[in-house]
Amino acid sequence: QSGEGAELSTDRLLCRISPDGRIRFLTPAGEVIAEETGPVSWTADGRIILRWRIPPDAHFYGLGERAAPLDLRGGVYTNWNTDPQTYHPGDDPLYLCVPFLIALHSGGKQACGLLLENSTRSRFDLGKTDPEAMIVEVEDEAAGYFFFSAPTVAELLERFTEKTSRHPLFPRWALGYQQSRWSYYPEERVRRLARDFRDTYRVPCDAIHLDIHYMDGYRVFTWDKRRFPDPAGLIADLHAQGFKVVVIVDPGVKADPRYRVFREGLERGMFCRYPDGRIFIGPVWPGNCAFPDFTDPRVREWWGGLHRELVEAGVDGIWDDMNEPSIFGEKGSTMPAPVRHDLDGTGGDHRRAHNLYGLNMARATAEGLLRLRPDRRPFVITRSGWTGVQRYAAHWTADNHSDWASLRQTLPMVLNLGLSGIAFTGSDIGGFEGFATGELFTRWLQMSVFFPFCRAHTYIASPDQEPWSWGEPYLSINREFIRLRYGLLSYLYTALWQCTRTGLPIVRPLFLAFQDDPATHTLDDEFMCGDFLLVAPVLEEGATRRQVYLPPGLWYDFWTDAVFEGPAKFEAEAPLERIPVFVRAGAVIPMGPDMDYVGQRPVDPLTLHLYPPAEGQEVNSFLYEDDGETFAYREGVYLLHRFSLAGKAGGLELLWSVEGSFDPGPRQVEAILHRGEGREPVRVPGIAPGRTEIRQA
Ligand code: GLC
Repeated sequence: QSGEGAELSTDRLLCRISPDGRIRFLTPAGEVIAEETGPVSWTADGRIILRWRIPPDAHFYGLGERAAPLDLRGGVYTNWNTDPQTYHPGDDPLYLCVPFLIALHSGGKQACGLLLENSTRSRFDLGKTDPEAMIVEVEDEAAGYFFFSAPTVAELLERFTEKTSRHPLFPRWALGYQQSRWSYYPEERVRRLARDFRDTYRVPCDAIHLDIHYMDGYRVFTWDKRRFPDPAGLIADLHAQGFKVVVIVDPGVKADPRYRVFREGLERGMFCRYPDGRIFIGPVWPGNCAFPDFTDPRVREWWGGLHRELVEAGVDGIWDDMNEPSIFGEKGSTMPAPVRHDLDGTGGDHRRAHNLYGLNMARATAEGLLRLRPDRRPFVITRSGWTGVQRYAAHWTADNHSDWASLRQTLPMVLNLGLSGIAFTGSDIGGFEGFATGELFTRWLQMSVFFPFCRAHTYIASPDQEPWSWGEPYLSINREFIRLRYGLLSYLYTALWQCTRTGLPIVRPLFLAFQDDPATHTLDDEFMCGDFLLVAPVLEEGATRRQVYLPPGLWYDFWTDAVFEGPAKFEAEAPLERIPVFVRAGAVIPMGPDMDYVGQRPVDPLTLHLYPPAEGQEVNSFLYEDDGETFAYREGVYLLHRFSLAGKAGGLELLWSVEGSFDPGPRQVEAILHRGEGREPVRVPGIAPGRTEIRQA
């Protein structure tokens, strides 16, 4: 500390605080990474304001779920979880905000992040009011933030998720194709759906979701006994056919004195109250409802326990919805600001608790499932959330429209969610409100088979949105793409495992791997799935070709093996039955046999697809395997294969090592060498862990 202010330093970062409180972050060499343009100020209506200078070539990412382009620069984004009652591109805010912002500037050389600690409403103006200023407003008396700096955005995410948590290893079936609508009922309709998948159309599927009509008058934790007279029997039959069942649960508890959950909640003081002690009541699906205060640990425990009967009936996963919380009325209606919350003992009102409500509902649910079934990994999806919700749940982008603009919007949304720590995401395949065409559904599905959460879902008034709903040629194409996903399941599961270890999302913007290439910084109509697959979905009606950008390096066309050298920009063929997909050279892509559902048969044969790197290059790939359901992997019961493929003069060298004690059972392992367009891939004989030399003719 000196007359000039104060200075803090680490071996990577210097922080200078001027006497008036203005903060600057610099590299040890003195280059500015981020700087405030003035001291903190306060407004008459109680907001705190921070101002930062925006470097000329800065790009912004993150902030949770945004119906915006990947680069958020030039927009204003509010952090206040909101049910938009369906949304279009540009609407803000939506269901799940995360006040974590990433900035990339200086041609990709500087990356930094700012995580706001406050849960009250806040706003990020990223150069809209003043193109050179980022203005952060927080509706609070004081604001705290964490500043992150790292050479790469990938490392920044590692640090950010180290602090705010990462996804757990979800059960492997969660990566299977899932089918939903609002709503499948009665029981016979659900049974027919299962038969349609398994027998009539032979489309792989892992989970069926039951939306609100399974409940008795929308009372959570009940069944409509007319529609579903024997839930346990139905679920047992579905299990026998290899399906999992996920049911929706809303936070609103019907204010009905004859209803056990309401009575119990009332007697035990579980619901949110006004300052005068009256219970807050608001209308949702069941009519007037009371709302559990999930910010109270007692309430979370009670709520978790309420899942017992669902679990005993065999339900496999829980879908937490409407937890912004959404209250019927004007768009964005929620609890009044003065409503009281426990906030884990600190006490406060809804202004502070609002953004934490969905997060804590997901937490109550996941912790409850874990207590009820300690040896099974919980699967929860949640509509709302906040920083760190990834620890408890996956997320979907909810109530969009069955139109091309919504399909186009989905990709940057999923990318920015991943850059906010929430990587297990996807959207309603085919879109939510409105009528999808066969073409729209197929294009949506072709993108979504490379997303972690791959579920078709639709609105109450929409016709059925199933892979066969439009007949041919859509059915065959849809089936083939879903089969492709099952073929790639080990690859996807490995990407999930990697995400749980490093926070790297599964669906990534290209700049995560090619940060030095400025052409990737705003690119948001292509993505990387895991380390090696570059996917360029078709996002326009009627298109049969699309422009593709490949960053530096060698790439193989996934369908034809044609080799491209990036950087390259060209028109790629994309007839209805295909979207451009490329494999980064050096990859070892594991593929498994056809399956109707995860675990139907062992991953036998396991086929390793080798894509030779350029001479002199060496590339690492992983394959992670375990039982897919339990926590035995924590005791070492997993297999981690590490492949290193090196391009040598006249050939290749593969180093393959294996760690862990999981037994995948007897199986055949084969390797297929890809050799470029017009040359059939060939089998590599005698492939085994250790060192293999492969001569290339
Ligand atoms: C909400 C959900 C939607 C669901 C509907 C009925 O709109 O976002 O997915 O189908 O409620 O439960």
